[in-house]
Formats: sequence, C-alpha cells, structure tokens
Amino acid sequence: MEAALVSPIPLEEFEASATDIDLAVTLPPGAYTRADFHDFELAAVFDRSWLCVGRVDEIPEPGDYFTTTLPGGEKVIVARDKQHNVNVMSSVCQHRGMCVTAPAKRERDSWYAEPGEQRGNVRTFRCPYHWWTYDLDGRLLGAPDMNHRSDFERSSIRLPALACEVWNGFIFANFDTDAEPLAPQVAKATELLENYHLSEMVSTPRDMLADLPFNWKIMVENFMEGYHNDRLHHDLYDLAKGDDPELENLTAGHMSFEYEPGSGVIAGWGRTAHRDRGLNPTQRGLFPPIATLTDEERWRMCYVCVPPSLLMGVSTDSAFWFLVTPTGPETFTLSMSFVFPRSTVELKLFDQVFRQHVAGVDLFNNEDLPANIATQMGLRSRYAPRGPLARGDLFLAQFNTWLLERYRAAEAA
Ligand code: FES
Ligand SMILES: [Fe+2]
Repeated sequence: MEAALVSPIPLEEFEASATDIDLAVTLPPGAYTRADFHDFELAAVFDRSWLCVGRVDEIPEPGDYFTTTLPGGEKVIVARDKQHNVNVMSSVCQHRGMCVTAPAKRERDSWYAEPGEQRGNVRTFRCPYHWWTYDLDGRLLGAPDMNHRSDFERSSIRLPALACEVWNGFIFANFDTDAEPLAPQVAKATELLENYHLSEMVSTPRDMLADLPFNWKIMVENFMEGYHNDRLHHDLYDLAKGDDPELENLTAGHMSFEYEPGSGVIAGWGRTAHRDRGLNPTQRGLFPPIATLTDEERWRMCYVCVPPSLLMGVSTDSAFWFLVTPTGPETFTLSMSFVFPRSTVELKLFDQVFRQHVAGVDLFNNEDLPANIATQMGLRSRYAPRGPLARGDLFLAQFNTWLLERYRAAEAA
C-alpha cells in the first residue's frame, strides 16, 4: 500500500491564509523554502493537477513534437499524431530507459552534458540505443531481435501516457490518468475568454528563464495580485493610469477575482482607464484590437491562473502566457510566450512592432523579477512574516484556498 502523504508543515497552519481577504495572512514561510515541504507539494499538487505544457499551434502538423520537463524532473514528449490528436507521454524508452528523443550523436564538447529539450517533425520516435520504435501516440511499433522471448508482447508496451486535454488552445497534461476532466473546472474562465477566441491564436517562440531563484508560488502571486501595480510599477504607471482609479470594486480599484471552492481556475479582470490598453509605456495596445470583443471587453485586462502552472494576461490585441515549472524548493523555470490573432502576425510590420510589445512587458518583468528574488531572501529569514493581506492581494487568499484544498485532498487520499 502507498504510504499516506503528510505535510511536514501541519495543515492547520495554512488555515489563516485561506480565508476572507480581510482576515487572511500570508502562507507559512517554510512553504516557500523547505525541501521537505517541496517534496510534499510535488506529490500533493503537481502529481495530481492539470499542468499546462504548451500550445496546440506549436505542433500544428502530424509528426510535430517538442519535449519538456515537468515538475519532479519527468521528461515528456508532446506530439501530434496522424489522426491530429495531441499526445503527452513519457520519453523514457521501455527497454532500458534511454530518453528516446535524445540525439544519438553529440559534439565532443557536450558529450557529458544532459541533452537539452528537443523539437521537430518525425514519423516515429526511434530510440537511438537499440532502435525500439514508437508511434506518435506512444505505442511500440517494433523492437529488433526480441522474438526469442515468449513473454514479449509488443502490443502491451508503450511510452507511458499522461492524461491530456486541450483548453483554449493550451495543452494540459496530468500524471493522474484518472483525473477529473479540466474543462468543467475552468468553465468560469471559458466564459470570460469566449470572445477572444484564444484557441485560434498563434504563439510566438518561447523565451525560457531557467532556475530563477525563488519559489514558484511567489511567481504566481506576483503575476496575479494587483496591490503592487501602481506601487512597484509606479514609474510605468505615472505616464498614464492603467486601471480605473474611480472603480470601487473589491480590490480597491484594481481588479476583481473570482474563485469558487473546488474550482480549477482563478480568473479576474480590471477595468482600464481607457479603451484598448497595452502593457507598454504608451498604455495603448500596439496591434489592432481583436475584432470579436464587445465594447465592454475593450475596457478590460483579464488575468487568468490555471494553477499550478499556467498564468495568462489578456489584453484587447493579444495575450501573454507564462508556464511555471518548479525545479526545487527555491527555484523554478519560467517559459514565456505571446499569442496573437493570425491576422495580426500576418501584418507586414509585425516583427518590428512585436519588439516594442515585448519591450513593454519586459519593463514590468524588470521590476517584478528582482522584487520576487528579494522576497525569497526575506522568506528565508527568522523574521519572515505571516503578513496581513491587503484587498489588492485578494488573489492570494483565493490561491491559498486552492492550495489548501489540494494539500488536504492529498492527506486524505
Ligand atoms: S533503451 Fe531504448 S531501445 Fe534500448
Ligand atoms: Fe508586476
């Protein structure tokens, strides 16, 4: 029997963080620093949740694939098969364990380094070691010279499959192949984003920041909370207010978030001070607005978190999305990309304007990433607080509730 999971930080200590925003405090600092808690979290959260691995438009044709590394270090392949289905499977060969997508030959100066992620188009996945060959959906097609074994049954062997589901063009995988489907858990966000037609958008090449030195939850919190926007980013906001200062919603004029207990998404939006806001110093979107938005939607920035891995900011001309993959208790890898309507990427000067668009988002990253690193430093301290949350931190109380639900479910399983 599998040993029951037990959090090394008693779950009662989390209750004060997962409550009404006017009472909630930050998580126990050990949740951001302790290796034993990180192991618990990998098993309690990442082994059982839908993890975003990328976009369908990154593998448009049959045979297109890319590899990625999931939390806990699992190497997986994301591939489109001949029936156009998207598959997520382990890249570990079921003969003697070589990663089947690793290149057979390497340059002399990288003989001893682990191979990096791969992408390309293939007819099959053939393990370079002994040439066991797998179909694009992971089934074993052939294994040379194995007929001498009476117990060798080719049809029972495959690259281990993860559960896979596509939502709004984003590919999600789950180690738990009996997991409840994702779509009903994210219905709120499906409704919020309907007119943006994200599933038809196309992605820009990803930017990867490996092993950033802070806990993955600090990234999620910083991305989603609105309390810091015109403080940490006051210089960017001084030119023109990004959000409507008159609005008296729950979060002091920034944005309002919704989370229903048991749900798989935390989504919110803020009313902007003018139509078609963009995240650059002009505060104006640089590309044509998405044609299908209502007038009301043209005054919004939407923020969507499908925890634990996908963060998305949606403006009226595009969206940007971040994938968060913990690599240790105090490190994670951040993968960043944008999606645009196809008509936008086909504009003649798209590349030139896109550089300005990226530079605008980078202005925020340039302030957020150092703040996050310094927060991790503080959370290691003996003086680390369980600080009171502000209303602009509303997202944090909701995220903490989402986390505690998963921690509790793991202990109860
Ligand atoms: S390890 Fe893959 S074929 Fe032997
Ligand atoms: Fe920020």
